[in-house]
Amino acid sequence: MIIGICNDHAGVEYKNRLVKYLKGKGYEVVNFGTDSEDSCDYADFAHPLAEAVESGRVDKGIALCGTGNGMAITLNKHQGIRAGLAWNTAIAHLVKAHNNANVLVMPARFASYRMVVSMVREWLAAEFEGGRHERRIAKIPVR
Ligand code: RB5
Repeated sequence: MIIGICNDHAGVEYKNRLVKYLKGKGYEVVNFGTDSEDSCDYADFAHPLAEAVESGRVDKGIALCGTGNGMAITLNKHQGIRAGLAWNTAIAHLVKAHNNANVLVMPARFASYRMVVSMVREWLAAEFEGGRHERRIAKIPVR
């Protein structure tokens, strides 16, 4: 599985640690984020990740910014993206199980690295439940 990851300046440290963690688990990782802690604009990194997920260049995405909201708002402008913001493992599970999120977004300034890695593990292991949730996500796109 190929995972795309993006971040702004607030997410550099966690991104670097996550890339090592994911590669250690055998995932291929494509970095769409900044590697600098100089102030930057999250949308410059969210759009390339969204396009890579939509085109199938990567299978799933992970995004980090300070609150997670800038990334989530930008990613969700793309019709093929369901980016879910999570801040604990139960939400990370449900965002896959119920919302079939193809991008997991996390708030780097409001979650410990330990929590971030637990959320990633939970989201990657979770399966979409389908059923009523399939009907619900089918109503999301704006036609
Ligand atoms: C950067 O200061 C911060 O605004 C950004 O990381 C994010 O929280 C925006 O939603």
